[in-house]
Amino acid sequence: MSGPAGAGGGAAAREAAASAAGAGAAAAAGADGGAEMVAVEQLTRRYGKVVAVDGIGFRVGRGEMFGLIGPDGAGKTTTLRVILGLLAPDGGTVRTCGLDPIRRGAELSRRIGYLSQRFSLYGDLSVDENIAFFAAIHGVEDWKPRRDELLERLRMAPFRGRLADRLSGGMRQKLALACTLVHTPELLVMDEPTTGVDPVSRRDFWRILTRLQGEGLTILLTTPYLDEAERCQTVALMDHGRLLTVSSPEELRAGGQGAHQVMVEIIATPKQRTQELRDARRDVADVEAFGERLHVTLRGVEPAAAGEACRKLAAELAAAGVEVHDARAVSPSLEDIFIARIRADEAGGAAGSRPEAAEVRS
Ligand SMILES: Nc1ncnc2c1ncn2[C@@H]1O[C@H](COP(=O)(O)OP(=O)(O)O)[C@@H](O)[C@H]1O
Ligand SMILES: [Mg+2]
Repeated sequence: MSGPAGAGGGAAAREAAASAAGAGAAAAAGADGGAEMVAVEQLTRRYGKVVAVDGIGFRVGRGEMFGLIGPDGAGKTTTLRVILGLLAPDGGTVRTCGLDPIRRGAELSRRIGYLSQRFSLYGDLSVDENIAFFAAIHGVEDWKPRRDELLERLRMAPFRGRLADRLSGGMRQKLALACTLVHTPELLVMDEPTTGVDPVSRRDFWRILTRLQGEGLTILLTTPYLDEAERCQTVALMDHGRLLTVSSPEELRAGGQGAHQVMVEIIATPKQRTQELRDARRDVADVEAFGERLHVTLRGVEPAAAGEACRKLAAELAAAGVEVHDARAVSPSLEDIFIARIRADEAGGAAGSRPEAAEVRS
């Protein structure tokens, strides 16, 4: 990856400048004493006719890890950019660290670290030089101890002389994180920070985030990975510019299994015969495929009767000539719940007029 053309122009430079700072944030940390790091109310933002964000509201408490999730085109990046003061809202209000992000942008940039989707390192600068550069644009004085501390914690000290272009994807992302944290922000905002990063580096990256949060850093991020959403205290599901749910992963899971619904995971051949259950039987609310596994949602069954319902379904399939390799009652995953929520929302909103905004990643 080559670095941005220069600090003077282009989106990358604007993004860097947006989080640039005049002084270390430690002095400003907690200055307003507020418990809310982000407060969004009735936020709307359009691009021409496209309503990218449609009247959403949520709050991020100090020290919280908050995940904004949803398919491509849901409005996640737009929401972050308004919170950061890079875009003005068309309607509603946003307070970031208690401040109006548009009018108090300079002050805010001292207190926020922003790892954007397009965050660019300078490929022809070393690890050390990249951090030095970001320290300079943030105006951090005496940044060397901070740099050394970050490199140590990210386990990158042995690579400090290496050119950024020569780093693996996971290492590059860790370096980007170091550059984002060099001015010691109190709020870290990240837009899909681990997209395209290998699973081992992803786990490494998350270990670091968890530790940073433990030290009081507030983290707001978007992610397409449901396992990452599970690590957040609060997850907000966005689709078509709207917020479908805001709750903890546990609450989501508890609420996702409706009072009279159970989920059965089946591996059977031929797969289509099981998928056809959705149309054939009224007690089947949904059938979703996850590779060879099928998740069948049965309605009108109490959780206590899940095992029995599962055995009955398997027996009926077998009697109909389907080869059932495995059938078990399962708790719905976050993925199951999100798919169900988005489906329900689409069914409910199909009659209404909505922008053809989403380009759902399939
Ligand atoms: N600069 C832009 N100009 C016009 N439309 C845009 C722009 N940025 C985003 N959009 C549209 O706004 C919607 C939300 O986009 P975005 O906030 O990037 O969603 P996400 O980050 O969830 O993928 C999409 O329909 C997208 O095409
Ligand atoms: Mg985005």
